[in-house]
Amino acid sequence: NWTMRDFIDLQIASIRQTVGDKKVLLGLSGGVDSSVVAVLLHEAIGDQLTAVFVDHGLLRKDEAQQVLDSLNGKFGINIVAVNASDRFLGALKGVSNPERKRKIIGKEFIDVFSEEARKLDGVEFLAQGTLYTDVIESGTDTAQTIKSHHNVGGLPEDLKFKLIEPLNKLFKDEVRELGEQLGMPHDLVWRQPFPGPGLAIRTLGEVTPEKLILVRESDAILRAEFAKAGLDQTVWQYFTALPGIHSVGVMGDGRTYDEAIVIRAVTSVDGMTAEFAEVPWAVLGVVSTKIVNEVPGVNRVLYDITGKPPATIEYE
Ligand code: XMP
Repeated sequence: NWTMRDFIDLQIASIRQTVGDKKVLLGLSGGVDSSVVAVLLHEAIGDQLTAVFVDHGLLRKDEAQQVLDSLNGKFGINIVAVNASDRFLGALKGVSNPERKRKIIGKEFIDVFSEEARKLDGVEFLAQGTLYTDVIESGTDTAQTIKSHHNVGGLPEDLKFKLIEPLNKLFKDEVRELGEQLGMPHDLVWRQPFPGPGLAIRTLGEVTPEKLILVRESDAILRAEFAKAGLDQTVWQYFTALPGIHSVGVMGDGRTYDEAIVIRAVTSVDGMTAEFAEVPWAVLGVVSTKIVNEVPGVNRVLYDITGKPPATIEYE
C-alpha cells in the first residue's frame, strides 16, 4: 500500500528533523499503539529511542516475554524492562474497592516510569501512541489528549518533555495497517484490547498472587482454545475473570469447595457497547473441562451472557 508507505516515509523524515541528535523516551504497554510507535521511531532514530516497559505483574501469561522477544529481539529496540510486580502487588494488598485499585495502579505506574526516566540522561522527548480518536474526544489541547491507559501524563513537574505523537492523525484500523506495513508480527498488530490495569480488574476484590494464577492460567487456556477454533478472528474481546464465588463440587470421591471462573467473550465495534458472543457450546465445553482439570482450585466455569449496557465488558 503506497499511501501507508508514503505516510511512514513522511513521519520518519519529520521525526528525524524534530529530534535531531536528542533522545526520545517511550512508555511501552505492549498494546498495539505504543508498539507501533516503538517500531516507527526505531526506524527513524534507532538507538536514540529508549522504551520503558513496566511489568506490573498483572499481565497475561507470557505477555512480558512476548513483548520483549518481538520488539527487542526481532526489531532490536532499546527496551528497559522493569519488573515491578512486588511493588504493585504490595500497593494493592488489602485493597478491594475497584476505583481504589485503579488509582493505585495508575499512581504506581507513574512513579515507576518517572524513576526510570530520571535514570536516563539527556532525554528531551516523550513519544506516545495517542490516536486521532483520543484527540477528538478530549478537545484541542494535544498536551491533554493522553488516554489514561497509555498515560504517562501526570508526570512530576521536574520531568518535562516535548511530546511526539506520530499516530495522532490515525484511526485504530490505520494504525494496524501501519504496523503490518512496518513488518510487525500479525499477532501483535491484531491483539485484542487489554486494559492498563490488567488482570487486577479481572480479579474481583483484593488481588493476591494466588488469585492471579487462577485468572492467568484460565485465560491462557481460553485464548488457546479460541485460537484453535478460529474465534480469535471473530470475537472482539475474550478473557476470564475470578468473581470470588466459592461453590461446592465433587472431584473423585471427595467434595470440593473451590473458586468459579467466568468466561467473558463479546463482539463490539469500539468497546462502547457490546453483545455477548455466541460461542459454540462445544468450544465452551472444551474450555470448561480444561480449566477445571488444569487449574487447581477451580471447580466451576460460568459463561457471562450480559451485554453492555447494562454490564461493562470488564468486571471492575
Ligand atoms: P468497559 O469495561 O468499560 O471496557 O466496558 C471497555 C473497553 O475498554 C477497556 N478498558 C480499559 N482499557 N485501560 C485501558 O487501556 C483501562 O483502564 C480500561 N478499562 C477498560 C476494556 O478492556 C474494553 O475493551
